[in-house]
Amino acid sequence: MNKVNWKPGNLIYPLPAALVSCRSKTLGDNLITIAWTGTICTNPPMCYISVRPERFSYDIIKESMEFVINLTTAEMARATDWCGVKSGRDFDKFKECGFTKIESEIVNAPMVGESPLSIECKVTEIKELGSHHMFIANVVSATVEDKYLDPDGSFNLNRSELICYSHREYRKLGQKIGTFGYAVEKIKKSPRRKK
Ligand SMILES: Cc1cc2nc3c(=O)[nH]c(=O)nc-3n(C[C@H](O)[C@H](O)[C@H](O)COP(=O)(O)O)c2cc1C
Repeated sequence: MNKVNWKPGNLIYPLPAALVSCRSKTLGDNLITIAWTGTICTNPPMCYISVRPERFSYDIIKESMEFVINLTTAEMARATDWCGVKSGRDFDKFKECGFTKIESEIVNAPMVGESPLSIECKVTEIKELGSHHMFIANVVSATVEDKYLDPDGSFNLNRSELICYSHREYRKLGQKIGTFGYAVEKIKKSPRRKK
């Protein structure tokens, strides 16, 4: 193996390319593409988004202390990129992208109807880290698209063609290579026949 030492920076990929929706009483509704996001606690369910203070959405989320993380699919990829290069200061992003606005269950911010999974979040803390400020939040509700519900009622998110953001590229998730814990699962052997 031949390794090359690379300059230290954020190279933790892949990440989601989430569309985060938010609402301000005075500034209106907006969408921002966020890759710096993730789960930080299972119980209570908590997550984060990191946002640059110069973003239009920053002021909105700081004011409302609420947002919705909408996961994105291959069909939504172009609009997701567009929302990540244009500002809500200049455009009504919901309208321009033709996204369906759906009212959330708990927070006062719209969900993106086209998303297979929308996660409503209430901010508990803002950490001013540097270029980005980290909004730490409680997950207070999740809404799923019913076409991804299997006949037994379970939610099958992986049928929705989710995309990820990896080193400047959007990519579809690849093929399934295992399930949680498969490395230690006992291989089911067919019962030995008695000789
Ligand atoms: C794939 C992708 C990921 C992005 N991730 C973030 C992020 O995590 N945090 C952030 O502050 N900006 C991120 N951006 C940039 C914002 O989405 C972009 O500046 C957007 O235009 C801000 O919109 P707004 O001014 O309406 O809030 C990302 C952009 C793209 C294309």
